Amino acid sequence: MSQTFLKTKSLEGPLTAPRYRLYTGKTIPKIGLGTYPNGKYSGWDVANAVYGAVHFGYRLIDCAFGYGDEPEIGQALERLQREGISREELFITSKLINTMHEKEKVLPGLKKSMRDLRMDYLDGYYIHWPFRQFEDQDVKDDVNCKPYCHEEYMETYHELEKAVQEGLILQIGTSNLSQKKYEKFLEDASIKPAFNQMEIHPCFAQRDFVRYLKGHGILPVAYSPIGAPIRPKQYVFDGDVSELQHPIIVEIARKHGVHPAVICIKWSVQNGLLPIPFTVEPNEYIANLKGILEDPLTAEEMEKISGVDCGCRIQRGNDYHWEGHRSWKEVWEEV
Ligand SMILES: NC(=O)c1ccc[n+]([C@@H]2O[C@H](COP(=O)([O-])OP(=O)(O)OC[C@H]3O[C@@H](n4cnc5c(N)ncnc54)[C@H](OP(=O)(O)O)[C@@H]3O)[C@@H](O)[C@H]2O)c1
Repeated sequence: MSQTFLKTKSLEGPLTAPRYRLYTGKTIPKIGLGTYPNGKYSGWDVANAVYGAVHFGYRLIDCAFGYGDEPEIGQALERLQREGISREELFITSKLINTMHEKEKVLPGLKKSMRDLRMDYLDGYYIHWPFRQFEDQDVKDDVNCKPYCHEEYMETYHELEKAVQEGLILQIGTSNLSQKKYEKFLEDASIKPAFNQMEIHPCFAQRDFVRYLKGHGILPVAYSPIGAPIRPKQYVFDGDVSELQHPIIVEIARKHGVHPAVICIKWSVQNGLLPIPFTVEPNEYIANLKGILEDPLTAEEMEKISGVDCGCRIQRGNDYHWEGHRSWKEVWEEV
């Protein structure tokens, strides 16, 4: 099936995002486009956003096999290259799904994403979650995963190190590891990851972990940088705080004449993070990229936003259960 992609009409684009330099020597745009459709959008909606966003100036696209939309995004990426966007300009990342962590499944998992995305190498490849999941989702007593095991994680990670040596991926990424797990993991990794993807937004700033990663030359990539306002119901808990309604952020947004979402993105980049906001709306991805290029937050505003942090994690991993599982907090070693 093929799709007619629509170009975004904007008098302001294309724009160029500034870049960070990774410890590997490669550079990466300071903002990317997320592609998890949150059960609300189709693969074609997302592919169309990728197409429009790249024409507007985005170069980093954050994909995952688990998002179910890589085949459609692959068509958009192929079309963009036919229209003159070079492969070298793009920064395409994907993620290994939890059901493909066994040694013999890692490279097939990676190659499936490469085929779907129509790429002969990826700029980055993450281990999506740091534990194994059974392929059969219809398991008894809700047990669908195995708990984290350092040796198993390293077995998976070493396969990705081989993928770097084979030129299939340029950088390795980790995701959803706690700092405690990270310390032991780094001791045993032969190739240091270039980036770690983690939930970061003003209400959940994870300052200590961010400092730790930067101290090791690993770039923190902020997922759900706006606090995932459209996340499915099963991920919304009583007491969750939303940046989009927070009086301090709303007030700063009013002063800057932008949506509170754009304040979250400015805050993220001004903190040396790499946000990957999701949206399929051209006016939103345009505002997010423009937001990091103009009208920065003042030191006083940055300070005020620091005060918003209330440790409100929203991507809890509450879908994942194992034998003897008591709470989602086990994922983060908080019990
Ligand atoms: N590694 C992991 O485990 C992991 C976990 C979660 C996410 N991610 C990645 O991070 C990406 C982003 O996270 P997310 O999708 O959870 O949440 P998010 O980016 O914090 O929030 C996305 C929502 O924010 C709204 N939005 C975006 N820009 C806006 C703007 N300028 N003005 C107003 N509203 C705006 C959109 O709402 P509307 O749709 O209503 O317009 C959009 O659906 C994902 O797509 C995925 O690539 C990775």
